[in-house]
Amino acid sequence: MAGIRPGKKQAEIVAYIVAIEDETDEGDPSVYLEDIAVIPGAQKQGIGWELLKTLVDNLKKKAAQDGKPVLLDMHLREGSRALLQKHQDDLKNLGAALIEEVLVSDYYDNGEDSLYQVYAVTA
Ligand SMILES: CC(C)(COP(=O)(O)OP(=O)(O)OC[C@H]1O[C@@H](n2cnc3c(N)ncnc32)[C@H](O)[C@@H]1OP(=O)(O)O)[C@@H](O)C(=O)NCCC(=O)NCCS
Repeated sequence: MAGIRPGKKQAEIVAYIVAIEDETDEGDPSVYLEDIAVIPGAQKQGIGWELLKTLVDNLKKKAAQDGKPVLLDMHLREGSRALLQKHQDDLKNLGAALIEEVLVSDYYDNGEDSLYQVYAVTA
């Protein structure tokens, strides 16, 4: 996602989301949310949620094409965990239901834990 800062003329990248075809920790085909980031000056304005909604919309189309739900999995840090928690009901209403949640100790290089989540996205 690109945007133009006040006083500037050229658009810059302010946020991105990366998701790849992968497998869940139980070996089922999934789409893995590899990364989501918003530049510090643009955080907490709803951009992260807009990116997530776009991803879920795309996965709903994939679910329709495949004729079955698409599994969306992810490892969450503190900030992204709060974002997902805040929008749990919205995700459910969009068709993304949380089906698995596991706390993984010492997941990141700095010793931080991660919350592993799997959602089933239906068309
Ligand atoms: C996590 C991130 C993508 C959220 O994007 P965003 O545009 O700020 O999110 P939104 O404005 O849509 O939603 C804001 C909500 O996200 C959560 N959040 C955002 N930044 C947070 C932070 N630093 N700490 C805790 N929660 C945070 C909160 O729930 C917040 O809601 P609130 O304002 O009511 O407290 C963004 O903060 C970011 O890039 N963080 C650094 C990179 C990162 O941690 N990426 C995840 C790697 S797995």
